[in-house]
Parts: sequence; C-alpha cells; structure tokens
Amino acid sequence: MYYYPHLNRYLDYHKQSLQDIENFWDYQGRIIPWFKRWEKVLEKNHPFYRWYVGGYLNASYVCLDHHLDSIRRNKIAYYWENELGQTESVSYLELYNRVNAFANFLKNLGVKKDDVVLIYMPMVIDSIVAMLAVARLGAIHSVVFSGFSKNAIIDRIEDSKAKYIITATHTYRRGKRIDLFPVVKDIDLPYIEKIIVLDRDGNFKEEGKFVKWNKDLEFVYVTPEIRESNDPLFVLYTSGTTGKPKGILHSTGGYLVYVASTLAWAFNVNDDSIWWCTADIGWITGHSYVVYSPLALGLTSFIYEGAPDYPNPEKWWSLIEKYKITEFYTSPTALRMFMKYGEDHIRKYDLSSLRMLGSVGEPINPEVWTWYYENVGNKKCPIIDTWWQTETGGFILAPFMGIIPLRPGYASLPLPGIEVDIVDEKGNSLPANTKGFIVIKKPWPGMMLGILNDEEKYKQTYWSKFENMYYPGDYAIKDENDYIQLLGRADEVIKIAGHRIGTFEVESAILESELAAEAAVIGVPDELRGEIAVAFVTLKEGIQSNEEIKQKILMKVREVLGPVVVFSNIFFVEKLPKTRSGKIMRRLLKSILTEKEIGDISTLEEEASVEEVRKAYEELKKTLA
Ligand code: PRX
Repeated sequence: MYYYPHLNRYLDYHKQSLQDIENFWDYQGRIIPWFKRWEKVLEKNHPFYRWYVGGYLNASYVCLDHHLDSIRRNKIAYYWENELGQTESVSYLELYNRVNAFANFLKNLGVKKDDVVLIYMPMVIDSIVAMLAVARLGAIHSVVFSGFSKNAIIDRIEDSKAKYIITATHTYRRGKRIDLFPVVKDIDLPYIEKIIVLDRDGNFKEEGKFVKWNKDLEFVYVTPEIRESNDPLFVLYTSGTTGKPKGILHSTGGYLVYVASTLAWAFNVNDDSIWWCTADIGWITGHSYVVYSPLALGLTSFIYEGAPDYPNPEKWWSLIEKYKITEFYTSPTALRMFMKYGEDHIRKYDLSSLRMLGSVGEPINPEVWTWYYENVGNKKCPIIDTWWQTETGGFILAPFMGIIPLRPGYASLPLPGIEVDIVDEKGNSLPANTKGFIVIKKPWPGMMLGILNDEEKYKQTYWSKFENMYYPGDYAIKDENDYIQLLGRADEVIKIAGHRIGTFEVESAILESELAAEAAVIGVPDELRGEIAVAFVTLKEGIQSNEEIKQKILMKVREVLGPVVVFSNIFFVEKLPKTRSGKIMRRLLKSILTEKEIGDISTLEEEASVEEVRKAYEELKKTLA
C-alpha cells in the first residue's frame, strides 16, 4: 500500500503492544476504577486465562458511582424512545438512584452474591437497571433475548439454575403488543423462587411467586458487593455446533477493561458522543456496547424499543436527526433492508451529526458498505466494521478510530494487544489472498472465562483444533496489507439476520414435531438476511408430506426456538445422503441448493468417497426435480 502515515503509526503501535502483552494490558487496566489493584495481570493455566488476578471491583460501581463525582453526574446516560413516540431519559445520577433502589428491592427478595438471575426484558431503561442491580449485588445475570420462546428459557434455567426471573408485562413491536410475562408465567422449575414483573400498564396482579416491580421504589443505598476480577459478571447463551446452547461465562475485571478499551479504540468516542448501538440487550453486542462500555466510559447513549422500519423506513433516520447521534452502530441485515427502500427516506433527514458508522454480526458486502458510506455517512464517516463473537467479549478486528485507510468489506486489522492470523488446517500461517481459518494467537482480557458447567466443551470447541491458538470458527482471508476479510462460518453454525443458530438446534426442534424421522438443516445465502435455513426432512412412516405437515413443522420450530429462525424451504425427501459411517453430507445438500458444481465439493465431504457423493447427488437431484 502507498505510504499512509496513520496506518504506519498504527502498525508500529500495534507491534509494540504485542511485544509484551502483560505490560500493555497492565497499563490499559487503568481505564476503569478498581477498589484494589490487581496483583498479577495475567495467570495462565492453558486454556484458562485469568486477568487482573487479585484486583477487586464492582461493575455497577464502574458504570455509575464512579461518575458521580465528575461533570458526568447530571449528564444523560440514556435517551429512550419507543414506537408509540413515548420518551424517557436518565442522567447518571438518576440511573444510580434507580439501580440502588432496585438492588435493594432484589436484596429484600433474597437475591445474593453468585445467584443467577434470568432477565427476559424488552429494550427499556429498566432492563439496564435490572442488569446493573444484579451486578451491584454480586449476582450473575443471564439475559435471554425477548424474542426467545419458553423452551429456550427453560433450557437456560436448567443449565444455570437461575433462581429469579425478571421480566415485564409486555413490549411493542410493529405496532402490536407482545406479551412477555405469559411466556414465563407457567415455568414450573423447582429452583425458581421469584418472578419479578415490571408492570407497564398498571394491570399486573401480584400472587404467589409473582412479584410486581414497583417503579416508585424508594432510594436506599446498596453497598456494591466486592468482586474479584475473575468472578463472573454474566452468563450469556449462544449456539454452537452440537447440543444445546452453551453458557458463555464472562469475567468482571478483564471484560470491563476490554469493552471500555475497544469501544474507545474503534469508535474514538468522547464526552460529546451520542452513541447509538441498535443491538438488543439480549445479545452480546447489547451487553458490551449498549450497557457496559458506554457506561464505563461515561457516554450518553440512545436506545430504541421497536422495529427499524416501523411505521416506515424513515424511523431510524428521524431518530438520528432528533437525538443528534454521533456514532451509529448496526448490522448489515438492517442496512440491506434499508437499501431495498431506496434513498429518499434517508435524504429527508439531517444526518450531519454523524461522525462514525459501525457494522457487526455478519460479513458486510462491499456494495452495502459503499451504500452505507455514501448515503448514511455522506462520505465523511468511516465505516467501522467490527468482527468479534460472544466468546471474545468485545471487538477483535476493527479499523482503529477510523484513521487507517478503509477497504469496503474488510474488518481490517486487529486492535491493540490482539494477535490474529489466517492459518490452514494444520495451523500454518497462510500467505495473502489464501482462504483459511482465522485464529487468535495471544490471550486478551475480554476472553470468556469458559463455558458454564462444561470445561471439556470449552477445551474441545475453542482450543483443540489448533495448538495454543483460539479457534473462533470463521473463515477469513487477508490482503497484501494484512487487512482481513471475513468469509462466514467454517462450522455448522448459520447466521440468520446476524443471529447465531446451530443447525443442530434447528434439527432437534424439527424432530420434536414428532413428524420427522430425520432432519438436516443448512444455511443458504439470502439477499436480505445474509443466510436463511433450508431443511431436508424424512418423515416418519405413515406420514405423507403435504403443506399442512410443513406448516406443523415450521410452527414447532417457532415454538421451540422463537421467531429468530427463518426458513426458505423445507424439502421432504425419501432419504438423506449419508457417508458410510452415517454422517449426513451437508455440504452436498448445500451445493445442490446453491447450484455449485459437484466437482467443487466432492473432496470437501470428509469421510465420503467421490463416488458416494456423486451417487447421493444424482439421487437427490432426481427427488428435488
Ligand atoms: O461469524 C462471525 C460473525 O458472527 C459470529 C459471532 O456471533 P455472535 O457470537 O452472535 O456475536 C455477534 C456479535 C459480535 C462470528 O463468529 N460476525 C460477527 N461480526 C462479524 C461477523 N462476521 C463478519 N464480519 C463481522 N463484522
């Protein structure tokens, strides 16, 4: 690349940061306030890494109390608006008051240190109050996305042994009331002691273990529980290749240092920022960049409860104008949807307050990148494409402060203190322009503590494919300047509208319909959502395939997994193509649907001979014809 001073300075800085990562992160640890400084910056017990060992802190103190002695005391922490045009805002002091009051309320209900509290709430300020109140008591929150079903909640409670559920009566989306409390009302698990309900319409009746969250709680100061840096702050479930979702456990100290640092590095936010991250609190992006990092840095954020294009595609742009948003962070799926509507809906609004634009969750196609840059950013805002995962806690790749040259479709370079590489099957570094697996070569403070209740799975999933390298499960490629482009998942995980779903989970849900004998689910490209699901199903004996059966299966998946899974189709087949050892040939199924040449995939189908693949291919083609 031609000589770019900023790029070269960044590369020097980055190189320096890697020379002694302990020293680097030791210094960086000061970005948040601690009750007591750590004794050891990093303790290695591969593959378990512990950061800031012996350091004490409390997340709600970091996010709230810490700001009260400064100019931020009366600064707005959150602006909120919903589809009905209702608004609310809280200053840091008001948020502190509400968190203390609610923490006291929870304490009186019996919530204590290390209890797991499940939060099933909409995008309202109270949800953030709930997360911080739980953290203040030294308890562990397990936020479940409010679009998930009862079954998904039950699975998570059974795994985490959550004792309390915090929910709300309802939310609104696309002009409709969506009830939340009825979803959890009948959950009858022995560990559940109380279900605390935010009464949003004044009609909620307390009874038995159902407790009303009264908005006029009296302020009572609650001393923040002292947590060691590696005490867990939260567990968040995410999909993997096998079995039920895994409970990703995050630390308190390393996590907070990491999310605060990465937000500042990637977006160059400051005290004048009006930050809008459109993610729901139910996902890691919501945890890290709606709640913890903006608060730790003392920013003003905006949050919105509702659909992006309801009642029309102007909604979001009107909000950017109204709240004078300076940094805006969203997903490629949302952008693709807006692109479909043309540009008139954007032009009506003054978006000149914007300084930075971000993207997350799935690869951003160069066309979408360019559209975003030209139409939303008016060619003056860098696009900060951030690549990371639930497990990494915060951004791993992102163009540092937008000051390095940008390349459409590339998440660019690793942030300071982070070493990544693109490697082949054996873990050897690959040269430029060769597709391989992205790996992270050194530990970082935002990394998960592990998987709740499953050390083996943690080792197996992330640390067994390559020696001493963290394996995220994504394909990537780099250019001659080491800029990295992500090329999608390398495992059986699909990304529907940026939501991560294991094909295995969808298959299990299909089998739960009691109609299917076997199911194979794959992800296929979709113009709007990035990927969507396609299922190949064999039915149980005596069951005839027809539209009604298809609908029943779709309903079952919706019931088990919620509306997150979107199908393009369900194909009923006589038998699924399998290898001799009984493994379903998924890549073959995919190649048939994406009309790839059989030659491309015959070698990819491990364990199967070329002949087997060819035969299965021909048979299936016939069935689908
Ligand atoms: O495949 C990558 C994709 O999302 C996965 C992580 O999903 P999740 O844990 O749900 O976290 C989403 C929010 C961080 C990754 O393994 N992914 C995330 N960001 C990007 C991305 N793919 C390409 N480009 C990105 N910027």
